Amino acid sequence: MLLPRAEVVGDPVADRAGTLRALAELYRWPDPPPEGRWVRAGMLSSVDGAVTGADGLSGSLSTAVDRLVLGVLRAGADVVLVGAGTVRAERYGPVRVREELAGQRAGAGRSPAPVVAVVTRSGNLPDPGGLFAPGVGTIVVTCGSADRARLEELVGADRVILAGREEVCVRSAVRQLADRGLRRILTEGGPDLLGRAIAADAVDELCLTLSPLLVAGEARRMALGPQTRRELRIEHLLEHEGALLGRWSVRRDHPVTASLT
Ligand SMILES: NC(=O)c1ccc[n+]([C@@H]2O[C@H](COP(=O)([O-])OP(=O)(O)OC[C@H]3O[C@@H](n4cnc5c(N)ncnc54)[C@H](OP(=O)(O)O)[C@@H]3O)[C@@H](O)[C@H]2O)c1
Repeated sequence: MLLPRAEVVGDPVADRAGTLRALAELYRWPDPPPEGRWVRAGMLSSVDGAVTGADGLSGSLSTAVDRLVLGVLRAGADVVLVGAGTVRAERYGPVRVREELAGQRAGAGRSPAPVVAVVTRSGNLPDPGGLFAPGVGTIVVTCGSADRARLEELVGADRVILAGREEVCVRSAVRQLADRGLRRILTEGGPDLLGRAIAADAVDELCLTLSPLLVAGEARRMALGPQTRRELRIEHLLEHEGALLGRWSVRRDHPVTASLT
């Protein structure tokens, strides 16, 4: 760890279990969450700001420690909120929690893994990864202009959340997830959804891995959409083999400005 103090957090190769425990502590969720929910964004970028590499996906930017931290973020979450573009590109399936971290959830009486909630307007949700298979419990978050009946057929009426008219209002979406008891909300992007979540002031915290890579190309950056300004406070910064893993919280004690569409 580089910040807030220089300290060895763990050795992911020699002591994986100990490192996972230390990371789970560093990335613990506020309990109880203020305002009844907490929205954490988990993202990965090259140093030059790309969220995808040569494969057009995030996998080519990832490192072993980034995957470890993603596992920790998922293990603590009640729900993974993700845009349909990412689900389609990354061929999402149900989220699984690493065996070493599953015990903590079971001990707290929680479900074995977070449910996935997919944000879509088009309803274009092919399913190569089994995310919408019967019994998986995936939630669809959509808006008034969508074909709601089709989505209800896909996941069941009780698993469709309507939040907004022409597009999904992320604040309304996270409020409705929290009303269902899904209060620890991990958003994994992508850039469209994260940009809208930031503009709606619905993000409380960013967990970002900077991979030690320059990739140039045409890749997107991590958040797109309405111009916004949020001030952040760094909570911690870790380094492993050149990758920097930071956790920043949105400062609530400063005025924020956003131009919402
Ligand atoms: N490096 C990383 O950490 C990371 C993380 C995530 C994704 N990615 C990459 O990012 C790329 C995907 O980017 P993207 O911007 O297309 O991702 P996205 O935000 O996941 O998907 C955009 C789509 O999500 C739906 N959506 C998002 N916000 C919405 C809103 N407010 N209202 C209604 N619908 C909304 C729409 O789906 P419909 O089209 O179905 O209406 C929209 O077309 C992929 O290549 C993926 O690999 C990288």
